[in-house]
Amino acid sequence: MNNNGHGSVLWFTGLSGAGKTTTAKFLEEKLRKQGRRVELLDGDELRDTICKGLGFSREERFENIKRVTYLARLLSRNGVDVLVSAITPYTEMREHARAQLPGYVEIYVKCPLHVCEMRDVKGLYAKARSGAITQFTGISDSYDEPSNPDITLCTSTATLEQNGDTILAWLGHAAPLEKSTSRRD
Ligand code: ADX
Repeated sequence: MNNNGHGSVLWFTGLSGAGKTTTAKFLEEKLRKQGRRVELLDGDELRDTICKGLGFSREERFENIKRVTYLARLLSRNGVDVLVSAITPYTEMREHARAQLPGYVEIYVKCPLHVCEMRDVKGLYAKARSGAITQFTGISDSYDEPSNPDITLCTSTATLEQNGDTILAWLGHAAPLEKSTSRRD
């Protein structure tokens, strides 16, 4: 929680299949064990509930992120630490989230496209390559690489445990989820 009683919002951005949700779930468990009130807002789940029906055009993705930001804001202002796992591909969206959320911490879950594609956990990269799905991030739609994230994790070279430790160390160093509004350069 930060000084104003706000929870932190740990925002995991990265390509589909990079490991955002896996890492966020791992951290969620760790933070719960520390006795924190935590909620995970996962892109896939939200698109099945409060964001159902939204597609992947620039406008619809923006609408998706605006709704997620709104929800994160409600939760975090009540002292809940929020973990968001969503591609959030455009810089403008991330700036929107940062501006709206006092406890915003940008976590770039970095993984080379060819590794995400090789993993192809959901079979979507194959569909995107064949043209069966369009506007697919990294293939037929852009992903603006974060230029100044608070934390960068590499999921192709580091383990889940190592990445979890990196975040926990960062949070500990930032006076347990307290200095998350200021980026460390
Ligand atoms: S965002 O761009 O609006 O932030 P979000 O994280 O909510 O995306 O949803 C991405 C998920 O939707 C992916 O993990 C994937 O399962 C699915 N998906 C389906 N079509 C697409 C697409 N065209 N581009 C990216 N993800 C897609």
